[in-house]
Amino acid sequence: MAGQSVIILREGTSRSRGREAQKANIIAAKIIAESVKTSLGPKGMDKMLVDGFGDVTITNDGATILDEMEVQHPAAKMMVEVAKTQDDEVGDGTTTSVVVAGELLKKAEELIDQNVHPTVIVDGYRAASTRALEILDQIAIKVDPSDKNTLRKVAEVSLASKILAEYKTPMADLAVNAILQIAEKTVDGFNVDIDDVKVEKKPGEALTDTVLIKGIVLDKEVVHPGMPKRIEDAKIALVDSPLEVEKTEFDAKINIENPEQMKAFLDEEEKMLKSMVEKISKAGANVLLCEKGIDDVAQHYLAKEGILAVRRVKQSDMEKLVKATGGKVASNLDDLRAGDLGKAQLVEERKIADDKMVFVEGCKNPKAVTVLVRGGSERLVDEAERSIHDALCVVRDVVRDPRVVGGGGAPEAEIARRLRDYAQKLSGKEQLAVLAFAEALESVPMALAENAGLDPIDIMVQLRAAHEKGQLWAGVDVFDGKVADLREKGVLEPHGVKMQVIKSAAEAAGMILKIDDVIAAAKSKEDRGPPKGKEEGGEEGASEF
Ligand SMILES: Nc1ncnc2c1ncn2[C@@H]1O[C@H](COP(=O)(O)OP(=O)(O)OP(=O)(O)O)[C@@H](O)[C@H]1O
Ligand SMILES: [Mg+2]
Repeated sequence: MAGQSVIILREGTSRSRGREAQKANIIAAKIIAESVKTSLGPKGMDKMLVDGFGDVTITNDGATILDEMEVQHPAAKMMVEVAKTQDDEVGDGTTTSVVVAGELLKKAEELIDQNVHPTVIVDGYRAASTRALEILDQIAIKVDPSDKNTLRKVAEVSLASKILAEYKTPMADLAVNAILQIAEKTVDGFNVDIDDVKVEKKPGEALTDTVLIKGIVLDKEVVHPGMPKRIEDAKIALVDSPLEVEKTEFDAKINIENPEQMKAFLDEEEKMLKSMVEKISKAGANVLLCEKGIDDVAQHYLAKEGILAVRRVKQSDMEKLVKATGGKVASNLDDLRAGDLGKAQLVEERKIADDKMVFVEGCKNPKAVTVLVRGGSERLVDEAERSIHDALCVVRDVVRDPRVVGGGGAPEAEIARRLRDYAQKLSGKEQLAVLAFAEALESVPMALAENAGLDPIDIMVQLRAAHEKGQLWAGVDVFDGKVADLREKGVLEPHGVKMQVIKSAAEAAGMILKIDDVIAAAKSKEDRGPPKGKEEGGEEGASEF
């Protein structure tokens, strides 16, 4: 039996274990964090990313940078997930979460080198993150969720680090108005679904021409040239069935023996279409927005009735139209009643850049609205859209959970200070892990200082001293280049964003640290489709070699 080799893994599988695996994972994650670190904060830089097709994206958004990077390493992919989770949950703070996660791993590496077992570090980090969240709750400031002033400040801070920074005041206003418009009051607060704000973009004009529309903008045109292009006091039929004569589901054959029969057949079809149009006009509609197709003949009759019609409206837009206009979607035209019609002050087709778009606007208290983003170039509009998304998200975060913290690394510095006090009560190696966690959080003010061209060590000394003196909201004022009370300066961020940063960074770091074995299957030929005549299953293949 001696010397017999047992093949367990498929040929070509690579495996790394123990320290080696940990080191490789940590390095990969650190590289990811380093790559976004320079884009943190209002003085951070943007990144230009070129994809496989040569398309260029210019962005400052952490989640987008990592998404476009198409990373390969499994641990690096976990970091990308951190940014994605952050984006999905709260919409902002993606760069911060990745930077903190990277720093947690860097500090862990140092501890591992000092022979602290990864499990001890993971436990220490877990304790520290629980404590950090408690501290964050203690220091958070309660605000009024409908106070436009506070909301505007929060939106402005999220825009400050973006291309839109120059226009942050009008853009922040726009985000606040959009969110407050769609927010629905509940017993204990507000319910906000960010999907109720449609963000439509069209290159052209300037960023300052970006507008909030109290209604929905459809990237569609009026279906027939004979129809009106503008209807005031619109009564809108929302229909999700086709205005076409449907084909039978089974194969049918019609034998036509003479021209009269042909004519009768066509006449019948026309009659059916005409009656569909009549049902719509009888209900009192002067606008038809249809999710499906509209037959040429039906278009003709609609035009004759003076009805403005749009076909193939996206289902997601139909849902928003319901919320904006207060109408109901009719699946059967027989059921269409005057009461089901949506209302808008104006429905109009306009030429925006080279395209025609249909504006359904002036809706009364709409529960869905549109932000139409304009800008000098496609790339600018794309980045503006991402930034507006961040602004909308932070306003939503505060409306949903009305608590804020100061920015500029102030909460990170304060949590770090209190974590150090907490660490004193712990023993031995766990204490080291908690201290490492505190230091990792301080990488946020440090990076802000560095990116602003300040001396990070100098700033950190001042910052720690300020917090020791009880200046809770001392942070890095990147514009004045010194440590200052950022709450006073109106630099506010949602409590939810910071909470999520701590949660996702700690979780990701813990997860990566607990890995001591990386088994990677080789990219097999079978992945690209099995070779002909070869059975599935690895043993045979392996024994061949
Ligand atoms: N005026 C300011 N002074 C100091 N710091 C600021 C100021 N405005 C914003 N910041 C800080 O900048 C950081 C946010 O930077 P940035 O928006 O680039 O990253 P992010 O929010 O983590 O990620 P992303 O926006 O890419 O999702 C926060 O820590 C915030 O407090
Ligand atoms: Mg941000």
